[in-house]
Formats: sequence, C-alpha cells, structure tokens
Amino acid sequence: LGVSGLGTDAWTGKDVLSILDFSRPDLELLFETTDRFVGLPDRVPKTLADRIAATAFFEPSTRTRLSFTTAALKLGAKVIDLSPDVSSVLKGESLPDTIRMLESYADMIIMRHPSEGAALLASEVSGVPIINGGDGSQHHPSQAMLDLYTIRSLKGGVDGLRYAIVGDLRYSRTAASFLYGLTRYRPGSVYLVSPDGLRLRNEVRETIGALGLKAEQLDSLDPILDKVDVIYMNRIQKERFPDPNEYEKVKGSYRITRSTLSNAKDAIVLHPLPRLNELAYDVDGLPNAAYMKQARFGVPVRMALLHLVMGGGER
Ligand code: CP
Repeated sequence: LGVSGLGTDAWTGKDVLSILDFSRPDLELLFETTDRFVGLPDRVPKTLADRIAATAFFEPSTRTRLSFTTAALKLGAKVIDLSPDVSSVLKGESLPDTIRMLESYADMIIMRHPSEGAALLASEVSGVPIINGGDGSQHHPSQAMLDLYTIRSLKGGVDGLRYAIVGDLRYSRTAASFLYGLTRYRPGSVYLVSPDGLRLRNEVRETIGALGLKAEQLDSLDPILDKVDVIYMNRIQKERFPDPNEYEKVKGSYRITRSTLSNAKDAIVLHPLPRLNELAYDVDGLPNAAYMKQARFGVPVRMALLHLVMGGGER
C-alpha cells in the first residue's frame, strides 16, 4: 500500500495532534492511502496485526471513537478501551499517569479530552503515538482530514472551491481544524457565517491569516447560497459555553432546511455530526446532503491514518 513518490516520514511513529502538523503532500499521501482502502473493502491487508490500540475518551463520542475502533479492528489490531467512568480516573488519577499506564499496554493511544492541550500533554509523557480525537475547542485533526477527503471525493478536489463555514465558529473544534486544513490548499473563497456571539476566536483567525487564508465574515448564508460549493454546518457547542445565559442568547440562531437550500444548486452540505436544530431532517433527501457519506468516510480515512502512523507506508 505504499505510494511511490511521497514520503512517509511525516506519519511514521508521529503524534497526530493538529492538522497543522501536516503538509499538503502529507495529506495527499493520507488520501491516496485512503483511496486504496476504499478500493479494497473485502481484501483489507492486516497491517496492524499484533498491534494494540487504546482508546481513552474523556468526552462523549459516537463517530470518532467507534470509527477509530472499527478502523483498527479492520486492520487486524486489538483494541482496549479506558472507559473513564469505570476507571481509576474516578479515583483522581492524573492524565499523565493514566497515559503512562496506557502506553505500557498499547502501541497507540486515541484520545479525546475536554481540556485544550490535553493531547499535547499526553504526547509529552507517552512513548507511543497519541492520536487526538478532539481537545476542547482546539483541534480535531482526523475530522478535518475526513472532511477534506469527502470534498476531494465528491467535488474532485479542494482547490478553487467556495466554502461557507456556518454556525458556532467560536467553540467548534471541527470548524477551526477544517480552516487549518484549508490553509494547505488554495480555496476560491471562504465565508465565515455566524451570529455575532459565535465568531471565530482571535487565535484561529490570526493563525489562518498568518498562513495566507483569507476569509470573509457574514451574518447570513442567504446572500451567498448560490455562490458556494461547500456548506459546512456546525452545531452550537452548548457544553463549552462558560455562561448558560450566553448560550440562551444564541441557541436557535441559525438553521438550514430544504427550503433554505432551494438556491444552493449543487453545493454539498457537510456536518461533522451530531446535529441538533441547525440542520433539518428534511435536508436528508436532497442531493446536496453529504454528511452521512462524510461520516462513513471516517473509517477508511482513519484506517489510512493508523496504517501510516504505525509505519504501514514503509512496508
Ligand atoms: N464528528 C464527531 O467528532 O462526532 P463524535 O463526537 O460522535 O465523535
């Protein structure tokens, strides 16, 4: 499954903390490796046989935890799960000590934590690769990778397209990571669509600006609906609001429905899921709805990621 002409050094044995740690050729290697897994559904090589993956999710997850687990199992690995609610985390064991235990049991640790920087801290004490499945509002690198892979698959590429990133841009790690991923490409235009209280955080704006990504802030999707190729919806991250009154002010402040999309032509609608009120169920039947395909790509993209991190690109 090696891809000639592309280096694997960026992946083998590395932590996956942020998509910013990866260059465009690194991402292309991931996507070409994913293509090979998508093309081999019945003949998946067991490149992780004899390996053990540990999952440690300190926050709820359906897609990230279970698609990483599925990816590892399909490649022949065994998976152990920390389950913080029945582990010694409940007795007060620290994150570094917990990670030190997991690294002595497993060859890779896939984790999610509500605190920003938790995956970085884990990487500093772990001798095995840390895969960040989300740390607070900061990073969700594998989500951005599968988002870009979805766009590449459905639109033929990422460059030159016009993007609307919609919703809670303040607290969504998916929105931040997607924007970081776009800095590796040359999008046609990027619109940030959010209510006033949910605008992009300065540190994210400054990072993408320093990397040359230009983005225009808008209050409403309506004026650009017929001008965009990708609409990336994001849930309001209720759990991250420091003040419940602030959540009350913005809840329900944006929503797309089948009728919203009547001018959207062939724009695809992405959403990392889970969805709440911001994305109506009546969108599901439209050809624009791409979020279930996006979620399904989570398995092959994460297979490719684990395969490369475990040195599979060199076999
Ligand atoms: N997209 C995503 O991160 O979903 P989960 O929270 O279910 O993992």
